[in-house]
Amino acid sequence: MVKIIVTRALPEVALERLGALGDVWVSTYPRPLTVQELHEAAAGASALVTMPSDRVDAALLSAIGPKLKIVANFAVGYDNIDLDACRAAGVAASNTPDTLVETTADLAFALMLATPRRIVEGDRLIRAGRPWSWSWDFMLGRDTWGSTLGLVGLGAIAKAVVKRAKGFSMDVIYWKPERAAAALEKELGVRYVTFDELLERSDIVSLHCPLTPSTKHLIDAKALAKMRPTAFLINTARGAIVDEAALVRALDKGVIAGAGLDVFEREPVVHPGLKQRANVVLVPHLGSATVETRERMALRAVANVEAALGGQPVPDDLT
Ligand code: GLV
Repeated sequence: MVKIIVTRALPEVALERLGALGDVWVSTYPRPLTVQELHEAAAGASALVTMPSDRVDAALLSAIGPKLKIVANFAVGYDNIDLDACRAAGVAASNTPDTLVETTADLAFALMLATPRRIVEGDRLIRAGRPWSWSWDFMLGRDTWGSTLGLVGLGAIAKAVVKRAKGFSMDVIYWKPERAAAALEKELGVRYVTFDELLERSDIVSLHCPLTPSTKHLIDAKALAKMRPTAFLINTARGAIVDEAALVRALDKGVIAGAGLDVFEREPVVHPGLKQRANVVLVPHLGSATVETRERMALRAVANVEAALGGQPVPDDLT
């Protein structure tokens, strides 16, 4: 019987389908497996379903051994997977593209509204029972509608954010290393600018690029210093794209106006300097966390496992 390892609980419908393929072991820990637990649990497996918090590297692949056919990541991002090591071991590695685009765009937009409009801060004030009354200058925020939105990246999620931004009369500019086709820019109604221009002109900078060696700490002290003191940084991509310590320093000095963050450099640890600040909205990596989307992601990961174990081409193979 083939052994299938799932490193964290999945929707039942997905587990049932995996159960038809082999012996399924699902972690029951309410936390990611440690490296040692993962190595031990996965030894001898033919398929491994991983979460973004699992590190898949040459050491894990060698601990698992030669039966392994696929690592199916339950996420669209795959910075946790060493693709070269998978290629060298002849193991397919897949993600779950197209399953979470609109859902993550919703969360990015929620942060773009909640942060400038001080929604979480207001909620806390009421719950804390602090006195308040309506006055012209009470808890003033900044407009999201009509503002300039700067997108770093123009992938599927960024495009879904553009659709929402247009409904809010926002002027959308973007930067990525390679400029998009003119026809796409026209269709979306977005303008290409340099990275520096994006930082200098945006009222809201929203990150939608993958985490790679070249995007690690893309938003560092130097980049933050180029942003407007009235601007907000939104991150629903990966924490390490932002130098968190530099962000805390920038917030302390009023270099930018605030930040809305769904992802962090060392999850689940969040820099204490972020937790202290009222102008920061913190969300525990919930970008794709809806019932519908998580089920879609799980079934997509399962489809990749089914293909790999059935000797078929893996639809979302990244190797
Ligand atoms: C979640 O962060 C994902 O990449 O799907």
